[in-house]
Amino acid sequence: MDCGRQYPVDQIIYSCETCGGLLDVQHDPEYLKKTITSDLFDKRLGTYEAPYNSGVWRYKEMIYPDVPNDMVVSRPEGNTNLYRTPKLAAWAGVETLYLKHEGENPTGSFKDRGMTGGVTQAKVLGIERVACASTGNTSASLAAYAAWAGLEGIVFFQNKQIAMGKLAQAIAYGATGIQVDADFDRNLELVRQVAEHLGIYVLNSINPFRLEGQKTIMIEIIQQLRWQVPDWIVVPGGNLGNTSAFGKGLHELYEIGIIDHMPRIAVIQAEGANPLYRSYLNGLTSMEPVHAETVATAIKIGNPVNFKKAVRTLKWTNGVVEEVSDQEIMDAKALIDRQGLGCEPASACSLVGVQKLVRKGIIKPHETVVGILTGHVLKDADAVLQYHSDTLEGIHPRYANKLYQSEATIEALSSILETKEAEPA
Ligand code: F0G
Repeated sequence: MDCGRQYPVDQIIYSCETCGGLLDVQHDPEYLKKTITSDLFDKRLGTYEAPYNSGVWRYKEMIYPDVPNDMVVSRPEGNTNLYRTPKLAAWAGVETLYLKHEGENPTGSFKDRGMTGGVTQAKVLGIERVACASTGNTSASLAAYAAWAGLEGIVFFQNKQIAMGKLAQAIAYGATGIQVDADFDRNLELVRQVAEHLGIYVLNSINPFRLEGQKTIMIEIIQQLRWQVPDWIVVPGGNLGNTSAFGKGLHELYEIGIIDHMPRIAVIQAEGANPLYRSYLNGLTSMEPVHAETVATAIKIGNPVNFKKAVRTLKWTNGVVEEVSDQEIMDAKALIDRQGLGCEPASACSLVGVQKLVRKGIIKPHETVVGILTGHVLKDADAVLQYHSDTLEGIHPRYANKLYQSEATIEALSSILETKEAEPA
């Protein structure tokens, strides 16, 4: 993406040999302009035919046009709902807020959209072992897609603060799991080195085929809005794979002429893991890694590898970056959960980020906002139970839902139900 050097699509490579920069999948703009219409994608809605029944491969021409359909490894993913949420909109201070629930993917996070692209490419390359470092969701997704494709999955975890649901998934799906005495950022360096040493394919978001899949979140939202562009897309930022993919997808839609302007992207980081936010305050010229700490373990990342692609997205979309506290994240999560939607802590950055940006006058109340919920509520059940029982260190739950204990008698049960304080709607 920096020096413009090109590599063939079947070369195993994650950064440029000339400049060390990140790689992009480069599509042929003439082919895209000739082939793609919104009608083509609308006609595939509701089909049972693989791989077009996937919310990633419905857009195959924009993802990986040449790959034979029977090589595609799909569960199928995507096709997640876009919820209009008037109560949360009112809370955040806007008239129209939609939440795109990526927790509705097969393994419960947006990672499946990337993994279908990455594991398909592993199959094309004839590779048998795939690996990643992960704060949890990438490993759950890799484990499932590797198993589905008949490959060996290998996942490196940091040795503390990994949400149980994610760890359990990776083990259940049969991946080789290794807990390494290091944080996510170090684990990612290690997985790249070990993979090169042993000839294993890396499926972190440095892999450009992952990002091709993840960019379909943007295409699908715009299709769900009947090809209208919202004013804002608000997304949590960790390793900045989504941020990078969103910009690329939108830019391509714009170049093909499917959309006539770009939405603005707001990236929301946790205060304790905010290297992009700090860089944003300094004009995005460089990024200093930070030691990351946050209750939102999915985004506990201090040195995001996709920084440069994220900056490109911010420039293309006139984007902004905001930070939110752990307290704000957990309270916003409780509100999303109580709507019956539910999400994991990191996802709640999207909602509280909207509120913060409205209060700062950056998002205007009349603007249409789409927030991305990145992961399912069951990913981190510990965080839920600790929040509601007020045992989460440093957090004072504003929206705790108390769990009652009762003797097994009608009197005791009636007494609880009749004296229970009415919950606010
Ligand atoms: N939300 C959730 C639920 C995530 O799992 C992640 C990243 C993010 C947000 C941040 O996305 O990295 O594209 O900026 N999880 C990775 C993992 C790092 O290993 O599962 P990003």
